[in-house]
Amino acid sequence: MENLPNSIEIGFVSSNVQKYKEIYKVFLQKSKIQLKFLNMILSEIQSDSLEEIAKFSLKTCFQKDFTIPYFVEDSGLFIETLNGFPGPYSSYVLKTIGLWGILKLLEEKDNRKAFFQSSIALYFNKKIYLFTGRVNGIISASVSESGWGYDPVFIPSKGDGKTFGELGEKKYSLSHRYLAVCKLISFLNEEYKLGS
Ligand code: IMP
Repeated sequence: MENLPNSIEIGFVSSNVQKYKEIYKVFLQKSKIQLKFLNMILSEIQSDSLEEIAKFSLKTCFQKDFTIPYFVEDSGLFIETLNGFPGPYSSYVLKTIGLWGILKLLEEKDNRKAFFQSSIALYFNKKIYLFTGRVNGIISASVSESGWGYDPVFIPSKGDGKTFGELGEKKYSLSHRYLAVCKLISFLNEEYKLGS
C-alpha cells in the first residue's frame, strides 16, 4: 500500500480544466481521496490505441518527481461509418475541420453510430495501471450550443436524445470518463482499504 498519512491525495495531470471538473465530481461522490490538479501540458505519441497514448503521456511525467500517486487521461471519439475516425486524432481533427467538418463527413450517411472512449493511466506504487470506459451513442445532425470539445454533437444512448453538451452536469455520470474514473476509484478504494 502507498505510504500516505491521514489525507490521501491523488494527482490528475492535465492542462484540461473541463476534464478535471468532471473527474473531481466523481471523486467527491465516490471516494474520500482528495483529487489534486497537476497542471501540465502532456506530450502524446501517435498510436491507434488510447491506452498506449495515455501510458506514454504518463511516462513523460516521471521526470517531475511528483510526491503523490497520479494519473493521466486520454480520450477520443470513434465514428463507426468512418472506420473509427477521428479516434486517437480527435484533438487534431477538432482543431482542423472542427465539428461542422465532422457533420459534413456524415452528411450522406445513415449510420451515425459512434462511441467515446476514455483511457486512464495511473502511476501507483511504482507500477502503471490502465482503466478504460466507453459510451455508445450517435452523432447529431447539428451542433448544439453548449458543451466543450465534441460534446455539442455526441448523443449518448442513455441521454434522452440530448447531446453531452445539452445534458450539462448530467453528462458527468453518463460519460466514458465517468466509467473509467469509477474503475480507477474502485481500485484506489480497495488499495487504501477505504470501502466504497
Ligand atoms: P484528449 O484526451 O485531450 O487528447 O482529447 C481528444 C479530443 O477529444 C480533444 O479535442 C477533446 O476536446 C475531445 N474530448 C475529450 N473528451 C471529451 C469529452 O468528454 N467531451 C467532448 N470532447 C472531448
